[in-house]
Amino acid sequence: MPSAHPHHVSIFGLGYVGAVTAGCLAELGHHIIGADVQQAKVDAFKAGISPIIEPELESLLQTAKREGRLDATTDATAAVKASQISIICVGTPSQAAGRLNLDFVRKVTAQIAAAIREKNQPHTILFRSTMLPGSTRAIVGVFLADLIKSGLLHVYYCPEFLREGTAVRDFRDPSLAAVGTHDGKAPATTEALDLLGFNAQILAWEGAELLKYACNYFHALKVGFANEIGRMAKHLGVDGARVMDVVCHDERLNISRYYMKPGNPFGGSCLPKDVNALSGLARIEGVNLPLLDHVMESNHAHLDALLDQITRKDARRIGLLGLAFKADTDDMRGSAMVAIAETLLGRGYQLRIYDPSINLTRLIGANEAEIQRRMPHLAQLLCATAEEVVRESDVIIASQKCVNVESLRDVAGAGKWVIDMNGWPELKALPWSYEGICW
Ligand SMILES: NC(=O)c1ccc[n+]([C@@H]2O[C@H](COP(=O)([O-])OP(=O)(O)OC[C@H]3O[C@@H](n4cnc5c(N)ncnc54)[C@H](O)[C@@H]3O)[C@@H](O)[C@H]2O)c1
Repeated sequence: MPSAHPHHVSIFGLGYVGAVTAGCLAELGHHIIGADVQQAKVDAFKAGISPIIEPELESLLQTAKREGRLDATTDATAAVKASQISIICVGTPSQAAGRLNLDFVRKVTAQIAAAIREKNQPHTILFRSTMLPGSTRAIVGVFLADLIKSGLLHVYYCPEFLREGTAVRDFRDPSLAAVGTHDGKAPATTEALDLLGFNAQILAWEGAELLKYACNYFHALKVGFANEIGRMAKHLGVDGARVMDVVCHDERLNISRYYMKPGNPFGGSCLPKDVNALSGLARIEGVNLPLLDHVMESNHAHLDALLDQITRKDARRIGLLGLAFKADTDDMRGSAMVAIAETLLGRGYQLRIYDPSINLTRLIGANEAEIQRRMPHLAQLLCATAEEVVRESDVIIASQKCVNVESLRDVAGAGKWVIDMNGWPELKALPWSYEGICW
């Protein structure tokens, strides 16, 4: 459907992302002026010839050319003067050792900034190139801060999620759209949402930058995971494709939001045991599965980070809200908080623990054996109420949502810290110092 607000848009970088963005915005009725340093690309683009092979793209460019809404130039100033919005889609290649080369983005930003100063009329820049978190803010600081301050310029970071081969389809029906603003609040002007995602998620610049990497990392992780399960399956004479297909049938726990929240390390009687068992088998059988093999290490690193966060505080009295591996169970096998408690006790810290699900007289079997082995004095550390734990501690680790936060108001005073493992906003409202494990 044509846009109700056709804009004049300059697109810097006529590669994959730029050409697709140009063709698809033209389809919506916007006027496009492409800008690239390569004369041959500019000439072809002007003639409606797609610089890349992508289904449907050339016909979109041809239509735009026919309707007089397509132009291109190597002159950055001319492109800015002919538009109110510039979208930056230049390449951000990797240097040796994986460092990102932002030279093209810097160069093009400097050119656009100079042209806006000359033009002296309001302008909007949408960064679309993939850049590491902090890049937009750093580039703005060097080239654009005065223009933003004077009110002439708005800057948004809008990551691109298209897939080559289905890029036009993905643009029309994006799997995800996000707009990064300088403060994470709604955009002050509508161009970013008009052009690149009316339903977009709003984040701060850095969040939108990291989002792009999180998505690509997740895709890469999924491919690596499927391949490693596949290799193990082949070694065992199992049909790995069938196994992974069935894995995907579970849309409640597997292909879902479940297990996707940063916070507590994993634990319990199953995950650590089963992760260890399969990677142990792979090692014995000589099947190289580096991704699966490092999952336990990743969990230990998360636990170490929490321990570091606790012991960096100048405090010796620690309180745990939640000891079992998750809320509403008394299962302490493989519990990350038991490991934390064990380590802190070993280092001579004072510990107080509240967990409403733990009743020592009812512990049985392997669960009781685990506690006898690792924390034989648990009975002396357990408190009847969360208030008691908070009153007698200086650093409180809220590992489970197992308390009524309001009931802690009188004991959560200044001088105390709470470390939140679940992203629990109510904890912030109490008069103690608040820190999250991942935020
Ligand atoms: N290709 C993808 O599927 C894809 C998807 C999402 C995001 N991205 C990201 O988008 C960005 C662009 O990727 P791409 O694949 O389109 O790159 P590309 O290499 O295909 O195109 C980049 C274009 O920028 C041009 N350019 C370089 N310096 C310039 C300057 N100073 N002025 C004007 N033009 C200039 C180059 O000549 C080239 O035509 C990258 O950051 C990439 O990581 C790519």
